[in-house]
Amino acid sequence: MTDQRMDIDTILKEDRLFPPPASFSASAHVKSMAEYEAHYNKAKDDPEGFWGEIGRELYWDAPWQRVLEWESPFAKWFVGGKTNLSYNCLDRHLNTWRRNKAALIWEGEPGETRIFTYQQLHYEVCRFANALKRLGVKTGDRVAIYMPMIPELPIAMLACARIGAPHSIVFGGFSSEALADRVNDTEAKIIITSDGGYRRGHIVPLKENVDGALEKTPTIEHCIVYRRCGNHIAMRAGRDLWWHELVEAESGSCPHVPLDSEHPLYILYTSGSTGRPKGVLHTTGGYLVGTYLTSKWVFDLKDEDTFWCTADIGWVTGHSYIVYGILANGATSLMYEGAPNTPDPGRFWKIIEKYRVNILYTAPTAIRTFIKWGDEWPNKYDLSSLRLLGTVGEPINPEAWIWYHKTIGKERCPIVDTWWQTETGCIMITPLPGATPLKPGSATRPFPGVVADVVRQDGTSVGHQSGGLLVITRPWPAMLRTIYKDPERYKTEYWMHIPGVYFTGDGARCDKDGYFWIMGRVDDVINIAGHRLGTMEVESALVSHEKVAEAAVVGKPDEIKGQALEAFVTLEGGVAPTEALKEALKEHVVKEIGAIARPDRIRFTENLPKTRSGKIMRRLLKDIAAGSQTVQDTSTLEDFSVLARLREEEE
Ligand code: PRX
Repeated sequence: MTDQRMDIDTILKEDRLFPPPASFSASAHVKSMAEYEAHYNKAKDDPEGFWGEIGRELYWDAPWQRVLEWESPFAKWFVGGKTNLSYNCLDRHLNTWRRNKAALIWEGEPGETRIFTYQQLHYEVCRFANALKRLGVKTGDRVAIYMPMIPELPIAMLACARIGAPHSIVFGGFSSEALADRVNDTEAKIIITSDGGYRRGHIVPLKENVDGALEKTPTIEHCIVYRRCGNHIAMRAGRDLWWHELVEAESGSCPHVPLDSEHPLYILYTSGSTGRPKGVLHTTGGYLVGTYLTSKWVFDLKDEDTFWCTADIGWVTGHSYIVYGILANGATSLMYEGAPNTPDPGRFWKIIEKYRVNILYTAPTAIRTFIKWGDEWPNKYDLSSLRLLGTVGEPINPEAWIWYHKTIGKERCPIVDTWWQTETGCIMITPLPGATPLKPGSATRPFPGVVADVVRQDGTSVGHQSGGLLVITRPWPAMLRTIYKDPERYKTEYWMHIPGVYFTGDGARCDKDGYFWIMGRVDDVINIAGHRLGTMEVESALVSHEKVAEAAVVGKPDEIKGQALEAFVTLEGGVAPTEALKEALKEHVVKEIGAIARPDRIRFTENLPKTRSGKIMRRLLKDIAAGSQTVQDTSTLEDFSVLARLREEEE
């Protein structure tokens, strides 16, 4: 944490209360606050009893000896147990009436539909798992995945999980450079991609990006390519293999590998406030139990439901709530390939009408965009199938909440504002829709089994109403186990800021009813359109340009994206500060990281505001970017004229 502000202002004042509709509560998994409190207290008083009971709802090849082994900060859950995510998401349903139920309903951006029943999905997963085995992939080998939102992505994930090969999915919006870094960190043997994917009517050239990465990834033996768009691509003989040719001769049966509960399931890279992206490691048993129960209770998942999470599987939301948690419940997961405004801004609402979607889980940034596009789009479609709405990724402003509630939910559907992180694996602070009275803008109460607090830097609780640092004080089953290959970083990033507890990086306030109000990051991580970026990463991308001497990147409030990126750049001596150079620098960042990291604005400055010890004071730049007067302590600033000059330039 740098320049930490301890007295986080209590910015949101919201006292409207929305109790759950009686008809919703009547048939919900958790029907009242009394039931919630009972679960919560049971999980708090006897976490092993609580989680053990939930664990027994799932399939285990061998029972565990202990539910939890906690040697802070390292946890083991369901110790000694053996299980398999792929089995729990597929095979477990095959001996039931669900075998011919839709597991996955997919719509491509051009408009095609593909539906996989549990049985069909199992068949495809087995064939692909057999193909991976034939290529020499063994339990424990890492597999990189860089794919569009097509059914073959969950098929590849479930195939990896089936044979115990941890997957590492890299979001298709990342550049070749970013992909190569991640592949090299995991030392993956295989990378799975497609020729392209559709986005806003264009083809995203995924294989071409992979080709760029493969110049620098010595561990990759094979690249498996699914033919999605039919665009022309280069296939290197021996290394590159077509998916359809590989699976052609494979059998549709592939026994799952009974895996130790702590066997690595996946690595997913996320940004931190220092250094390179970190590989968050999730393991098997605890992640299964955590995503299973949160899917069931938070989304009140029923067998009749069609559940649509609009996230990309390249992020944790898609891992947990398009694939693992949803399929472990035997529910129907809808997946859409493309953009929300292709061919027009009515696309999401049309999908809801067409497939009679019951539960919609999306991001506040998307909601704000829909508001901007106008009510005429949702109003054109029949949204009466919806019974529950959800949000994730950033705080939702009460105005957007109310719009979502009225225009999409027709004042009928509860909204679950779910707070969690890549690291937490599953939802942590959230309403339970049949129980919790909602306050717009609050993620409400901790999920049973989660013990959260708002504390000062010294770890003491701030009590009610004042701002502080959000921490989780007990281990939970789906928690990250470590940073891949870097347990020291795991300790220092999460467990040493405030000794003995997990520090989330977020500021929060807890009101008198025990409701949490998340106020966003207090470290140098920014949240752009629900995607997490470390300012350091963008800074190092800028500094890697030959004309840049120094750079500081901050988030600036943005109406739609939540935050926008503003970069302050000092050029090398003698370099002219031109508009063309600004554009070139933006492109450079896109090349280094990907389009999500493109700075919205670049400002050249001769100097950056620094402390006497040479540390860049990003908080001051943040104020300048936001156009507000500095209320921060500037006593450590070395050269006051820097700020004055930047301000003048703004006016
Ligand atoms: O700042 C919080 C914000 O997103 C961060 C986690 O980002 P990521 O690991 O990319 O995972 C996003 C999807 C789970 C958190 O530290 N965040 C997430 N959900 C909420 C939120 N902030 C406020 N309210 C939320 N519901």
